[in-house]
Amino acid sequence: MIRRDSAGGSGAGGQDAGGQDAGGRDAGGQDAGGRDAGGQDAGGRIRRAWQAVRSGEVDLSCELGSVRLANPVMTASGTAGHGDELEAYVPLGALGAVVVKSLSSEPWPGNPAPRVHQTASGMLNSVGLQGPGIEAWIHNELPALVATGARLVVSIWGRRINDYSAAAAMIDGLTGVTAIEVNVSCPNVEDRSRMFAHSASATGEVVAAVQERTGLPLWVKLSPNVADICEIAGAALGAGAEAVTLVNTVFGMAIDLDRRRPLLGGTGGGLSGPAIHPVAVRAVYDVRAALPDVVIIGVGGVSCGEDAVELLMAGANAVQVGTATFRDPRAPLRVLEGLERWCARSGVRKVAELTGAAQVDTGVVPVQAHRGVDRSAR
Ligand SMILES: Cc1cc2nc3c(=O)[nH]c(=O)nc-3n(C[C@H](O)[C@H](O)[C@H](O)COP(=O)(O)O)c2cc1C
Repeated sequence: MIRRDSAGGSGAGGQDAGGQDAGGRDAGGQDAGGRDAGGQDAGGRIRRAWQAVRSGEVDLSCELGSVRLANPVMTASGTAGHGDELEAYVPLGALGAVVVKSLSSEPWPGNPAPRVHQTASGMLNSVGLQGPGIEAWIHNELPALVATGARLVVSIWGRRINDYSAAAAMIDGLTGVTAIEVNVSCPNVEDRSRMFAHSASATGEVVAAVQERTGLPLWVKLSPNVADICEIAGAALGAGAEAVTLVNTVFGMAIDLDRRRPLLGGTGGGLSGPAIHPVAVRAVYDVRAALPDVVIIGVGGVSCGEDAVELLMAGANAVQVGTATFRDPRAPLRVLEGLERWCARSGVRKVAELTGAAQVDTGVVPVQAHRGVDRSAR
């Protein structure tokens, strides 16, 4: 088992500025992150080539609470595998961070097939959080992930509060883990399988329980399928989260006409991809307006640099790329390149300046002022 050495701290703090800038295609036109013909790992060479051609005009670094990343583009949980699968296409160390597919303390089989279905402008999935369990992941996947040099964020999930506590305790102390993303879009078997993410109090309880078991920074990933996402975000922050990740998939369903039954094995599914990009932009905008100091990671339908810019302007501090990766495994890197190009073209010297740039002052009192969200506990 890999345990964090004493110098590793809680994962907070700056990244080595030398090796962590955006990756890209190498000068010879080889696919980013690919292994060259001689079998030699091309990641370092591509990173160096990218640095040589980068304008250097744009400061891409971002601060997410106590975590400082070299750039604001990450993978989204569940769309980049459990391990280093994507390293064959993208030098993962070039991204801001890699968010691992949600893991539980025990192995979990997930939902029956079919699990994914293409829709007009996105996809439906009902994977059902299949996973090997944290102990097996630590042995089989973590070493290769750490070897990529990527900043790692481990997503955890559970079906009861104790599951989350157990998962957090297993992650705490691992070498190379920067933060925990708490996925609360999960049925709470102790509350009639109502999603934790649909209840402010259940979300707060999960975060408080996780915080007792780890000193790692906590990001809480919220569901868009709620009436007031600002209230849930306030509860997560009040219980000790450093950031909220907005948003998980939107409830959806497809019907198999021949069978006259729901098409997905899990019956309902989660919609993702371009179809939900405006939903994500709205959620980010509303939470930024309601909670001006919050750290937000925006996710939903990002497939190019401009999509990322839109989420940043709505109020995000960083973004994640999910479904786009199924179409093009290099999508996270393309988004990063596109973001930097857009900034350079638009005279933006520091990407952090974009956060909330589109916010309009409506004179509405921010939520925490009248809901009394206690952020002193952070
Ligand atoms: C196949 C699939 C699996 C996913 N698995 C997870 C998961 O394990 N944990 C999680 O927090 N989100 C999961 N998500 C949600 C994504 O991380 C992301 O929030 C969502 O898909 C919206 O972003 P996108 O439109 O860029 O995909 C999954 C999404 C897809 C499409």
